[in-house]
Amino acid sequence: MNNKTHQPVMLKEAIDALQVKAGRWYVDATFGRGGHSQAILDQGGRVVGLDFDEQTIDLARRRFSEALENNSLILVRENFDKLTQIIEQLKQEKVLSGQIWGILFDFGTSTDQLMAEDRGLSFEHRQAKLDMRLDNRLGVKASDLLKVLTVKQLTQIFEDLGGEEQAKKIAKAIVRVRENNPADLEVVGSLVALISANKSRRSGHLHPATKVFQALRIAVNDELDNIERVLPQALALVNPGGRIVTIAFHEGEDRPVKQIFAEWEEQEKGVRISKKPIQPTETEINQNPRSRSAKLRIFERKE
Ligand SMILES: C[S@@+](CC[C@H](N)C(=O)[O-])C[C@H]1O[C@@H](n2cnc3c(N)ncnc32)[C@H](O)[C@@H]1O
Repeated sequence: MNNKTHQPVMLKEAIDALQVKAGRWYVDATFGRGGHSQAILDQGGRVVGLDFDEQTIDLARRRFSEALENNSLILVRENFDKLTQIIEQLKQEKVLSGQIWGILFDFGTSTDQLMAEDRGLSFEHRQAKLDMRLDNRLGVKASDLLKVLTVKQLTQIFEDLGGEEQAKKIAKAIVRVRENNPADLEVVGSLVALISANKSRRSGHLHPATKVFQALRIAVNDELDNIERVLPQALALVNPGGRIVTIAFHEGEDRPVKQIFAEWEEQEKGVRISKKPIQPTETEINQNPRSRSAKLRIFERKE
């Protein structure tokens, strides 16, 4: 198996949670390599697939040409925070008819994106520019943030979005470097070297740059605000009795889902299918270590 391509995480659990029925429409809001969508299609379901990454959607159009032709799949290159608008437009254009019976979010990045040589998401590709935009229409790259944010702002990003223990020390070092050698903040390799030089020890099995890279990626792509903006839209869109299924990979992604699902239940808008998140089996973690931190949550809208 080529482990450099994306393996869908908690595939069976997610598809079971969606309760796919033939002929019904589902939204895969984070299409990626289409692993979850393929499983929905295999069960006779129909899919509106969204992804804001141009390369991802281009590849999907080639790989899923048959499903696109037979109208069981619609692909839209857009941010899922425009979910309501996207679905309304597809209905107006009569491309989509019928209710949405389930909406899936598999947050974050795909292995394909992380491993790409030119996107600056992986600290393994030292020559890459520090871009990190998943949607190349976004105006601000990671290198731009490193050049303009204050020590305080950088510290906050590294702490809040990455859980980086040496956040302030690294932030100060970044600001020092940009005064003398701003070009050093353009490429992956020099940021990795700066972080390594400012970390007193490795935290467990993680590469020293892991947390700062995660934090910068989340900030550049506004990932947490996107989640907060889309969840109410998803609840309004899903048919009564239908489900919203989320897969989160870190606390920042999981927290807003956990909170809003609990609030919705209190407001009697529906029920959480299990109060505790579902986690991957040992077998899956062994086969795909990236699944290790995954938490799957399910909310069913009231009938
Ligand atoms: C973890 S991958 C999904 C993998 C997919 N489930 C599969 O099995 O191949 C997440 C995908 O969501 C996309 N994505 C992340 N945030 C998004 C957003 N706000 N709007 C649209 N797509 C987004 C990323 O570009 C990435 O392709």
